[in-house]
Amino acid sequence: MKDFLPLKRIDYIEFYCGNAKQSSLYYQYGFGFKLTGYSGLETKNNQKASYLLEQGKIRFVLSSSYDDSSPISEHVKKHGDGVFDVAFEVEDAAKSFEETVKRGAIPFIEPQTFKDENGYIIKSAIRTFGDTIHSFIERKNYSGLFIPGFIDAKSKAPEGITDTGLRSVDHMVGNVELGKMLHWVDFYAKTMGFNQLLSFDDKDISTEYTALMSKVMQNSTGKIKIPINEPAPGKKKSQIEEYLDFYKSPGIQHVAMTTTDILTTVSDLKKRGVEFLTVPKTYYNELINRIGTIDEDIKLLEETGILVDRDEDGYLLQIFTKPVEDRPTLFFEIIQRKGARSFGKGNFKALFESIEREQALRGTL
Ligand code: FE2
Repeated sequence: MKDFLPLKRIDYIEFYCGNAKQSSLYYQYGFGFKLTGYSGLETKNNQKASYLLEQGKIRFVLSSSYDDSSPISEHVKKHGDGVFDVAFEVEDAAKSFEETVKRGAIPFIEPQTFKDENGYIIKSAIRTFGDTIHSFIERKNYSGLFIPGFIDAKSKAPEGITDTGLRSVDHMVGNVELGKMLHWVDFYAKTMGFNQLLSFDDKDISTEYTALMSKVMQNSTGKIKIPINEPAPGKKKSQIEEYLDFYKSPGIQHVAMTTTDILTTVSDLKKRGVEFLTVPKTYYNELINRIGTIDEDIKLLEETGILVDRDEDGYLLQIFTKPVEDRPTLFFEIIQRKGARSFGKGNFKALFESIEREQALRGTL
């Protein structure tokens, strides 16, 4: 069947922030992103200040508002800092809008053209869970830096910031309310033409206290993967409920970024102050029995706190940051795939117990 919504790639992820100027430094110093573009008052943009950050194929846009009643300010007031837009590059932004809206998507931006001396882009957008949107960006007639209105900001970047080896976005996960997972699985299937790659139920993902259910949706090429989580009833409050309570709506829970050398990347990130979840030492005692032989030195993995899981295609190494804002909401995953195409199901229990220890510290378990 022909894909009615051929997505080329994740174009960018836009975060709405209270203070994008300062957040941009966190992502530069902490994660090794390069500041490449800027739009704001100095570029005659009196709507918002935006900082374009890049590393490998990853593009983040951090935006904040000049006005107390703007949609950005409303978003930040309600959610704290978080992901507003997961934007996809498409061949035809008008057609992407039309095909998805025809299938029930709620329009957010009608196809609109933005021009400068380097050509034009066409942008449209639809809503997804919570206050999150998906933009469709058509940039085949544009040769400029990013999007009209952005100027080159490389000269403004602090000196000496090096890459941490992050290469691309592997997947991003949405948290939705209890009973809403199937609704959003259906949305990605029917409205966006995605198919279901994997499914986990509360038997796969439960600890003594909490549980969740998850289904992984992917586009026709398999390049864009969006797992959708919902809380499952447990003895105490699940991490998904905690997210929903603090984010005040469904939203993006984590963005997973790939590296080809997780030991080096994570050691580097730790030195820069990025905080990670830890698992007990016993995790590593059982590791070899569970996953068999791997290329990496288990001792080094243990020292760095990296988790390993195996599926029928190979194995993967992964680690999760603590939330990157004061509200326990958005966090990041660093992942290195060595054949495996799954998401680390074998680590869920150890991880959730780790998250529960953090929840207990926050008094939100
Ligand atoms: Fe993940």
